[in-house]
Amino acid sequence: MHQAGRSQAGIFQQDGRHHVFLEFDCLDGMRGLPGRQLLTHEGSQVIAFGKRLTDSLESISSPPGLRDFTAVKGTSGLSAPATQHDIFIWLQGNERDELFATALAWCEVFGLIADLAAENHGFVFRDSRDLTGFVDGSGNPKGDARMEAALINAGEHAGGSFVLAQRWVHDLAAFGKLQVAEQEHVIGRTKPDSVELAPHIMPRDAHVARTDLPDAKIYRRSTPVGGVRDPGLFFLAFSADADRYRVLLESMYGLAEDGCHDRLLVYTTPISGSFYYAPPVAGLAAVFGADTCTG
Ligand code: HEM
Repeated sequence: MHQAGRSQAGIFQQDGRHHVFLEFDCLDGMRGLPGRQLLTHEGSQVIAFGKRLTDSLESISSPPGLRDFTAVKGTSGLSAPATQHDIFIWLQGNERDELFATALAWCEVFGLIADLAAENHGFVFRDSRDLTGFVDGSGNPKGDARMEAALINAGEHAGGSFVLAQRWVHDLAAFGKLQVAEQEHVIGRTKPDSVELAPHIMPRDAHVARTDLPDAKIYRRSTPVGGVRDPGLFFLAFSADADRYRVLLESMYGLAEDGCHDRLLVYTTPISGSFYYAPPVAGLAAVFGADTCTG
């Protein structure tokens, strides 16, 4: 049995074509949060907290391994910035106007206790492709393996999940100058039908070669974001273990033993990065049910 607690259903909900990602900074010492009336959107929203806030909340505790995102300094001048915030809200659905209304409602209930620090609006591009034109999500764990990858499987945090949220900006002009066969070598899958390249032709700096690691399985729910001037991806992933993100980022940024960095990083750059903890539903209800005073 991989999850004693019930996880937030939105983690695995797949049918929304529109997405909103909100990140808030909140007052020190919050023991609970306002906005219980907005928890009715279960299934179409996921809520998670940074370590500072999780530590101060009365009804939940930080799972071992939860920490603030720290900047990654890779080889060849590559880096990923840290922009840690306190509250992360991900909304998904097919009616963009309703998502927008829910986003406004969250901003309103948090009015006195938190500031909106970042907002991103995402969308499903064609058949779940990222804006480079490659299908994103093909290598995700399927069936029960999704829960094993995404959810803490035992103990008081069972059903909870470690979240990585990063806004990336692509250099589509540079990527578009590559022949399709070369683009496929950057990603490690074919472009039209997302078939993984055979081991003998998979370059060791291909994105799939850097991230298909047996001990670092995560469940990704990224979507394209931005406009034509700043096209990119909101990378969003759920993991049973915080350490898997370190292993993956080290492998991508040339910090693993082989010193090789992910060639995808030549064409796309993160401009934000935060870790959060998405508690199981019971924990979430308690956070929003408790006294919101600062302690
Ligand atoms: C702009 C940034 C990124 C883009 C455009 C991107 C795109 C892709 C694409 C097209 C694939 C192949 C299809 C699939 O399996 O989904 C893939 C696979 C994958 N990516 Fe990314 N990715 C990005 C960042 C990241 C980051 C930051 C991580 C980890 C922290 C990551 C982890 C993975 C993993 C684990 C796989 C599956 C490998 C496998 O098991 O085959 N990606 N990504």
